Amino acid sequence: MIVANWKMYKTQAESLEFLQAFIPQVKTTAPEREIVLCAPFTALGIMFKNLNGSQVRLGAQNVHWADTGAYTGEIAGSMLVEIGVNYVMLGHCECRQWLCETDEIVNLRLKAAQRHGLTPILCVGETKKQRDAGETEKVLINQLRQALVDVDRSNLVIAYEAIWAIGTGHTCEPSQANQVIGLIREQLDNKDIPILYGGSVKTNNIDEIMTQSEIDGVMVGGASLDPINFARIVNYK
Ligand code: 13P
Repeated sequence: MIVANWKMYKTQAESLEFLQAFIPQVKTTAPEREIVLCAPFTALGIMFKNLNGSQVRLGAQNVHWADTGAYTGEIAGSMLVEIGVNYVMLGHCECRQWLCETDEIVNLRLKAAQRHGLTPILCVGETKKQRDAGETEKVLINQLRQALVDVDRSNLVIAYEAIWAIGTGHTCEPSQANQVIGLIREQLDNKDIPILYGGSVKTNNIDEIMTQSEIDGVMVGGASLDPINFARIVNYK
């Protein structure tokens, strides 16, 4: 599974321009490679209308836990489903850091996503300070334990994003990421939950990352914004 996290990039026009260049590049990609574009809310509807039968799926970057209500600035699951969205990313470290998302809130959002038939992508990861203090395992176990209360393990993706490797160009060594992802898998009853790696994934490291036994895919920020680069990542060797 190869997921693009566009963050707060791309207008509708730019998203369509991306699709026009990207879709032909993945025409012959093996159908079992799940390709997901997590675009801004404003672009998702028009993108869905322009997928033209391709295997590309759409993801949102948030969902609220209530079905409707007085929650200014939030988005409901039904609103995403209506415009063709299949996935939703939750617990991304940028939301935890800038928007004070707690594990409890992430848990509420995860359950709402599943209630609406969306597949949540739960992001977990440690800061550099936590890693240096030898707390990686403890932090991850805590995040998983709290975020996964009453969450259906059969409709879930997990992304391990080493926070210190995001947008920095410092990739977590593939073998190190593999080890941490193995550790995450040990915490889960369902060993088939796809677990992705995220953090400075680029065209020049994707092939090595995907050779790792525990890594089921990647979540890509900066390098997903260019259609040719992202296609190279999707079509890893
Ligand atoms: P970069 O690929 O830009 O490091 O971003 C990773 C990320 O945050 C994916 O969710």
